[in-house]
Amino acid sequence: MSFDRNLKIAPSILAGDFADFGREVRAMESQGADWIHVDVMDGHFVPNLTFGPPMVKALRPHVTTLMDVHLMIAPVDPYIEAFAEAAADRLTAHVEAGPHIHRTLQAIAAAGCKAGVAINPGTPMDAVAPVLDLVDLVCVMTVNPGFGGQSFIESRVPEIARLREMIGDRPVHIEIDGGVDSKTAGRCVAAGADVLVAGSAAFRGGSADAPEAYGKNIRAIRDAAAA
Ligand code: DX5
Ligand code: ZN
Repeated sequence: MSFDRNLKIAPSILAGDFADFGREVRAMESQGADWIHVDVMDGHFVPNLTFGPPMVKALRPHVTTLMDVHLMIAPVDPYIEAFAEAAADRLTAHVEAGPHIHRTLQAIAAAGCKAGVAINPGTPMDAVAPVLDLVDLVCVMTVNPGFGGQSFIESRVPEIARLREMIGDRPVHIEIDGGVDSKTAGRCVAAGADVLVAGSAAFRGGSADAPEAYGKNIRAIRDAAAA
């Protein structure tokens, strides 16, 4: 099968109802989500805490698309096995999480998951160059990680274009995470992104009981990206 570079919208459950994640995921998928983005934070690598492998495992049966797990944790290696056992489809580790990102990505693949690498706004894009053959996705942070609802950092757009050139023909997705909405999506996709994570912009105005707003939000981002 050829590599799928069609646009994918990945709602981040960070913006959903923490007491009702299973229904939130099902609602999002019924409304057109392509992947489900799951933000794991440790209160150390980022100044916020979310949840760990047991939550990912509990969510697993609700996700029928792809469970895209963004690990904002350091260290990463001691937890890879637990997240793989929780049946995450992809584990994305930060290039800044240290100390050995190359080893971390190898370990993720060895545990049977797709491997992704994420990069913060303050890190030169060249930092991911040595690992592009070990991943199927680069997650370009367009906010500093830790919280939803932050403003998109505009200076990342030319960096996305640069990454697109660095990737060349490799089967590697470019995912954008942070401040993506119908105003910023178009510039990300024009620069070469094919996966858009959306937290606040995807969940705004809806709920698992009234999911139509989720569909409207996803369509608005998709339409803006195609324009
Ligand atoms: C930020 C997380 C994002 C976050 C995006 O640290 O990695 O996935 O949920 O939220 P919005 O779309 O609201 O910026
Ligand atoms: Zn994320």
